[in-house]
Amino acid sequence: PMKQRLLVVANRLPVSAVRRGEDSWYLEVSAGGLVSALLGVKDVDARWIGWAGVNVPDEVGQRALTKALAEKRCIPVFLDEEIAHQYYNGYCNNILWPLFHYLGLPQEDRLATTRSFQSQFDSYKRANKMFADVVNKHYQEGDVVWCHDYHLMFLPKCLKEYNSKMKVGWFLHTPFPSSEIHRTLPSRSELLRSVLAADLVGFHTYDYARHFVSACTRILGLEGTPEGVEDQGKLTRVAAFPIGIDSDRFKRALELPAVREHINELTHRFAGRKVMLGVDRLDMIKGIPQKILAFEKFLEENPSWRDRVVLLQIAVPTRTDVPEYQKLTSQVHEIVGRINGRFGTLTAVPIHHLDRSLDFHALCALYAVTDVALVTSLRDGMNLVSYEFVACQGSKKGVLILSEFAGAAQSLGAGALLVNPWNITEVAASIGYALNMSPDEREKRHRHNYAHVTTHTAQDWAETFVSELNDTVVEAQLRT
Ligand code: UDP
Ligand code: G6P
Repeated sequence: PMKQRLLVVANRLPVSAVRRGEDSWYLEVSAGGLVSALLGVKDVDARWIGWAGVNVPDEVGQRALTKALAEKRCIPVFLDEEIAHQYYNGYCNNILWPLFHYLGLPQEDRLATTRSFQSQFDSYKRANKMFADVVNKHYQEGDVVWCHDYHLMFLPKCLKEYNSKMKVGWFLHTPFPSSEIHRTLPSRSELLRSVLAADLVGFHTYDYARHFVSACTRILGLEGTPEGVEDQGKLTRVAAFPIGIDSDRFKRALELPAVREHINELTHRFAGRKVMLGVDRLDMIKGIPQKILAFEKFLEENPSWRDRVVLLQIAVPTRTDVPEYQKLTSQVHEIVGRINGRFGTLTAVPIHHLDRSLDFHALCALYAVTDVALVTSLRDGMNLVSYEFVACQGSKKGVLILSEFAGAAQSLGAGALLVNPWNITEVAASIGYALNMSPDEREKRHRHNYAHVTTHTAQDWAETFVSELNDTVVEAQLRT
């Protein structure tokens, strides 16, 4: 039988474009969990539809970029600068993102945001419509269309309006907040209704799915069932599909000579010190200031550790046109500078802070030499960094300190040390506990996490979602 085609629609394509000349483009791998998880999905006939991350106003550029992307099975959606700004920087990342992570609207420009809300939402809808147009153009009968994330909540509705037979799934990579939070959104009902146009709606955890269903019952007055949400006999299936990683890819990388050499270098470089690691996009939700303050407290209370431990923080730049992210960058720099000034010596500093991304092999080497990984997200849909760390710890069996507010806490909770990132005293104590943990306990905890990470892969996640989507459509047809 012919393999079913999958159209993956996400704001972010797996590669982002950098312009090199009038008709020449360089493609670099995009950062973030959505892209890494989807790159871990193999053996499907998939095409990607998304935004290449740049404004391309001219036709020559658009044609050249379309061609370059086609080699990666990617199809671009071109958004003009103003729409991209209002939709991506504005509605998506200044309103939906903080709200879905329980951070509220940015304090300082709350009123300005409230005032520009409607125009940003209009751009959001317009942008979603442009994605829908491209999907519609490439759609063939029988295709499965899988929409991703908070950028595209309006897309299922647009697609079904074009073609009610299209099989449409939507998956959210962030938390879905309590209905009490969702209620505050002026566009609360419209967003829910458009998502409900999909055949299947998926979340990382059961809690997020439950929040979504209560938002639909409380705000829209619809009926929640164990299967999903019902509206006048039409069922939208709602379920949890916890994402995973391609753990084999990490294990294989650790065997490469170049990576082994890098591991040796790092081991040599940090000899005599325990290595603690943080890898995050430089985002408010990651609790980076909280993490660093907890580390400071640990150093303060444990003078004997001061020259025996180092914290490596990789802070990948992200959404740099949004003012909140710019503020966070300077805030983090200030704290790091203060602590290094306070505890550094002429030859060493306690915190190495890098404002950049790492290539895959460098990242694997870092994961492998780490003694303690620190994930302190204030909220996080899943957090794949914690999975990747575990996958690379086959020989070292280091400790994972993990925020109880990351989706991953539900799967790695028994192996990790769970913390409340707001409680700096508790995180500092966990750092001490982790650094002093007996090899026996480390081994036991690692084994638990490793078993989970290697058996719940990105591949399984995608297969389960797509087959559930196919089943849902068949069942719906049987009902009518
Ligand atoms: N990552 C990256 N570039 C880097 C460092 C990390 O793309 O320089 C990847 C990392 O390997 C992981 C993803 O970014 O797969 C982050 O995913 P996570 O779910 O932890 O958080 P998100 O960034 O999606 O909020
Ligand atoms: C999170 C979101 C993704 C997004 C990624 C990187 O993982 O869930 O949708 O792609 O962050 O952010 P960016 O804004 O650069 O795409």
